[in-house]
Amino acid sequence: MIHVNKEDRQFELHTRNMLYACSVDDANRLNFLAWSGKSPSQDGPVFSSRRDFRLHECAAQDPDKPVDEVCGYGDEGAREPAIRLSILGTDNAVHSTEAIRDLRLRYVSYQVGKADVPHAGAPTHGRQTRQTREGDWLMLTLEDASYPLRVVLYMRPDEDADMLERYLVIENRGGRNVVVEHAWAASLTLPVDRYQATHLCGAWIAEFEQQRQVLPVGSTVIESRSLTSGSRHQPVVFFQPAGRAGRSHGVTYAAQLAWSGNWRIQMEQRHDRSMRVHLGENPMDADFVLSPGESQASPLVLATYSRDGEEGAASHFRSYHSRCTLAGAPTRRPVLYNSWEATYFDLSLDGQIALARKAAEIGCELFVVDDGWFGARRSESAGLGDWYVSPDVFPDGLKPLSDAVHDMGMDFGLWFEPEMVNPDSDLYRKHPDWVLHFPDRPRVEARHQLILDFGRPEVVDCIREQMVAVLDAVPVEFIKWDMNRTPNPPGSIAGKRIWRRHVEAVHQLMDYLLKRYPRLQIQSCSSGGGRADAAMLARCCQFWTSDNTDAIERFRIQEGFALAYPTEAMECWVTHEHNHQTGRNHSLSLRFASSMRGVLGVGSSLNELSDQELGEYKKYIELYKRVRHLIHQGKLNRPSLYEVSDGLSAWQYTAEDQRESYLSVVLVTHTPGQTPSHVTLSELEETARYRVQEMLRGDTFEATGAELMHVGFQCAPMLEKHTPSYVGTDYHWLIWAI
Ligand code: DGJ
Repeated sequence: MIHVNKEDRQFELHTRNMLYACSVDDANRLNFLAWSGKSPSQDGPVFSSRRDFRLHECAAQDPDKPVDEVCGYGDEGAREPAIRLSILGTDNAVHSTEAIRDLRLRYVSYQVGKADVPHAGAPTHGRQTRQTREGDWLMLTLEDASYPLRVVLYMRPDEDADMLERYLVIENRGGRNVVVEHAWAASLTLPVDRYQATHLCGAWIAEFEQQRQVLPVGSTVIESRSLTSGSRHQPVVFFQPAGRAGRSHGVTYAAQLAWSGNWRIQMEQRHDRSMRVHLGENPMDADFVLSPGESQASPLVLATYSRDGEEGAASHFRSYHSRCTLAGAPTRRPVLYNSWEATYFDLSLDGQIALARKAAEIGCELFVVDDGWFGARRSESAGLGDWYVSPDVFPDGLKPLSDAVHDMGMDFGLWFEPEMVNPDSDLYRKHPDWVLHFPDRPRVEARHQLILDFGRPEVVDCIREQMVAVLDAVPVEFIKWDMNRTPNPPGSIAGKRIWRRHVEAVHQLMDYLLKRYPRLQIQSCSSGGGRADAAMLARCCQFWTSDNTDAIERFRIQEGFALAYPTEAMECWVTHEHNHQTGRNHSLSLRFASSMRGVLGVGSSLNELSDQELGEYKKYIELYKRVRHLIHQGKLNRPSLYEVSDGLSAWQYTAEDQRESYLSVVLVTHTPGQTPSHVTLSELEETARYRVQEMLRGDTFEATGAELMHVGFQCAPMLEKHTPSYVGTDYHWLIWAI
């Protein structure tokens, strides 16, 4: 709900439990007023009359200084401005006394309606249509006091998900060139306090690691300096008053940036206890010329508030993404088989059909051929960029394999790495200039590959045409879209704009394919979970979360992932008993338990398994299918927030009508002589009676919702002495109303 107090020029955006407010002062500055909780029953405005920004605690030591919603460089000296730019003079030179490095944004008007300009990264293939409804958006127009440089601040409260969406559009309405040096997508102010922040960091095979720290006085930066959102940090952060909140309790503010390229989140905790956070594209190489008449939209920022700790805010992100970001995406996520770890580059038609047959027998619904099916790609060192079916591997094209897979009742999927080229490829031999490089400087290969210059439209056209030729020839329902290197050096025909152009080109290419092939689903992969972000989620309904498929590692990686994204987008594979990344062995049961928490896949070499083992795989896939609707469409709660590091991890998924729930429990380490903890459930009806059954072992009992939610139960029974499963025992409880 949007409330506008026209007389006092005050704006309130309400979700069920959150308030965001700003107002215009006498000097026409748009001031931040509040970001806080509110009661769901509050229908009307929270502020009954004009609220003076000076009374607000955010003003900290500087009560006479307003905190602008969008602060120009000229209005802000000591702190980080939202926008830095130079308005060039008649000599059109940046380093000139004529260039004005001063921006003072003043309120001009407001509008409540449809968002007339989309944010950067908005999908164009018909999803997210609900975001453009009349009356959804508050648009606040600001303009520089002496040059017609206009900034429109777009904000939309999503009531049900308790989420505020927000972005900026900068428009040069004057006659001079403007060099935008950097613009944050959003600068958010928090109430004055000392804060602790939680964010997600990591690396290849170690993504989504949770980091909690009390913020030091000063600036703390997390970022990506890549053409992907990256695995080093995730563009999401949670803030809590230091020491007064935790994982599942206390006031929590959280923000997320929806962008698939380089980005930065800069947290500014000042000595006076004021706190701001800036989110947007990375200031590195950020400057660009905005010519007269041109405009640029920022990526989308999501902001939320919860009284239930980080997990409360995380559940808002999950619910928002399921309802909004994934709106229009297919809800069915088939059980996937991927042949990568079974065959690597050793592909053949007969070999793939043999694997597909076994995959279908154990219950897989989608068969994906990974790297190696195209061009001269018999190893990592050749073929990228040549997206035609390799006659050496598939002499009659992909049709015999695709037909066989479809006849077995499965969907068919293919791996692509569209942004890359091997120097040993037809494409590179023909167009050596089509890669990121600087003239007369060495080209730097990684994994024997170079990055194509997506700043050149003809490069994107060429890749699109090649992909279309493959996808037109055989029905392909799934693409695994990989991206495996960082951009050094970033030399492009687009100059410094390549950071944005590349991301736009990837988004547009995906949008084109999704529109052309309505049944297509895309999985985003970047050396594992290196390109998992909300702008990708609007196109790729699932993420390859990590190349690390070790079950215990995966539980931990997934715990971090689910702080930002829904489990229906979290792809997880069961792989070999002897893990290829960590060298550890885990039981099949434990491997399934970790993979069942999201979108189940299988990556084991099925040819190496006995019939008895294949029978076990089949049993677990059947078990998963019984609860898949809850895992994908239900609400995730993490009861008592046990995590792998606590020795016990428990995730509960519940149907919207509260009649059915699935509890996945893993006892990671069991100290002999100690009884594993009780787990209390959530989201059930207090008075309803439920039957509770452990799906593998058959133990069953009955209890009321109140009993299960307040008293809880022993979901990981005390193990007998000398039980080999002291490390890693999983339990699968189904709870249904009777
Ligand atoms: C990296 C991915 O993370 C793997 O799953 C696999 O697809 C390889 N690329 C193929 O080259």
